[in-house]
Amino acid sequence: MAQVDTLFSENGHEVLRFADLVVGEGVQANQFCIRHNDRAALIDPGGDLTYTPLTIALSRRVNLDGLEYILASHQDPDIIASLPRWLMHTRCQVVVSRLWSRFLPHLASSYVTGKMGEQLQARILGIADEGKMLPFAGTELWVLPAHFLHSVGNFSFYDPLSGILFSGDVGASLGGEEGCVDNFADHCHSMQGFHRRYMASNRACRLWVAMVRKLAPRMIVPQHGGYFQGDNVGRFLDWLAQLECGVDLLDSGNYRLPSADW
Ligand SMILES: [Fe+2]
Ligand SMILES: [Fe+2]
Repeated sequence: MAQVDTLFSENGHEVLRFADLVVGEGVQANQFCIRHNDRAALIDPGGDLTYTPLTIALSRRVNLDGLEYILASHQDPDIIASLPRWLMHTRCQVVVSRLWSRFLPHLASSYVTGKMGEQLQARILGIADEGKMLPFAGTELWVLPAHFLHSVGNFSFYDPLSGILFSGDVGASLGGEEGCVDNFADHCHSMQGFHRRYMASNRACRLWVAMVRKLAPRMIVPQHGGYFQGDNVGRFLDWLAQLECGVDLLDSGNYRLPSADW
């Protein structure tokens, strides 16, 4: 049976983390659910690999009739490729960057033509670059800019009741600690390669870190690998703010035509 981590639970408000639903060759990924009484929001629910196990695991804790939102930090397959199934089987709205809202119909062929096409656009909430406060079951969820980390239209999500920041691929690790990170100094090696290649630039990292420091979240939970709380929130932000990545590391050697010994 899938393991569920309850990251927060108080007065009918719960945050759940699913960390072991991906099987086979897909990269390990976490899926998150915020439940407030009978309403729910899912964060980065994943693709085909996770749809069935996630619905089974969720149905033990949440009534999917109350699924209001799917929050997609960006457009990648491990984030939102299960879109057509959620649209078909629930009444949720899909929250995604406005930059991607016109691309998502490519994942949902059965909705593309005629009346179904109109229906699809009504269910996709394209968010402008500055983000948004979404009303959610009498509370709110914050959609915060995280552009170029790594996708050009990318958001982090914040739940003010739990103080949890859902950071998508920011803070993602492979082969490091899988639950609450204990030894940050050891764990940061498991983030290094991914962030150096997948994040656009140190400038984007620093701008995001400055915003998150003002927010002062209790916990930062990435979509892959372990998560940060307590002093490790600050350690992670310090690490990211100084990281050289993406275009910082590019030179002409990265753009070479094939040579004879290629
Ligand atoms: Fe991604
Ligand atoms: Fe990812």
